[in-house]
Amino acid sequence: MFAVISDIHSNLEALTVVLADIKKRGIKTIYCLGDVIGYGPNPKECLDLVIEKTKWCVMGNHDYATLYEPTNFNYGAEQASFWTREVLETERQMLSRYKWWRFLGKLPMRRTLKAKLGTNTAIIDFLHASPRKPINEYIFPDDVYTNPVKVRVLFEQVKHICFIGHTHLPGVFLDEPDFYPPDELNDVYPIVDDEKAIINIGSVGQPRDKDNRASYVYVDGNEVNFVRLQYDFETTAKKIMATEQLDNFQAERLKEGR
Ligand SMILES: [Fe+2]
Repeated sequence: MFAVISDIHSNLEALTVVLADIKKRGIKTIYCLGDVIGYGPNPKECLDLVIEKTKWCVMGNHDYATLYEPTNFNYGAEQASFWTREVLETERQMLSRYKWWRFLGKLPMRRTLKAKLGTNTAIIDFLHASPRKPINEYIFPDDVYTNPVKVRVLFEQVKHICFIGHTHLPGVFLDEPDFYPPDELNDVYPIVDDEKAIINIGSVGQPRDKDNRASYVYVDGNEVNFVRLQYDFETTAKKIMATEQLDNFQAERLKEGR
């Protein structure tokens, strides 16, 4: 069994609840699809937890923005990334500083795993955004109707299974192309040998599918299980409001899941 988390966005309350749930299920292996930081108020604590608890992590666009520079960010997201950088740079503890920047600087764009899942063998890619542009490209559910050619082209680059985050909208893309949100799948997608899938696992710290609960998946046998968990978003929102450099919209959206 393993769990996959993504898009934590410096939300410690959401991350804590998700990690506790993973532990309760007896899952020891956790992979992370990036965007550990950005938007939220607790970058240091979230980096510490991800470094400690996950087996590895790949690079998200917000991790990239803090490490290098924000690209195509709106004003609020850009301000948050500059604030995050300042927080990490002004930390007094040299060892912590070193640990965080080293972690960010070494994040790969993609990881690939060959795994035996029940009776099936799967080749699984883990990346933040899309198989073509692993850090920045968005694959939206609507693309299957508005831009099916794009989705088909992306599937050409998928060997079998690809876990992604980035849009903060959980669900499964098939190569028809089709998109199935978790509730249409009863929260379970079975990985089979002859079906390609791009699986968006949703966001731990900033869900955007009008459901404000934290999202992650765990894989048991060949089944990908989508999980949603309530967490104390009021506390996260208050911390955002109390930080001048963080836009209040980042607090409001947590309540509404958008
Ligand atoms: Fe994100």
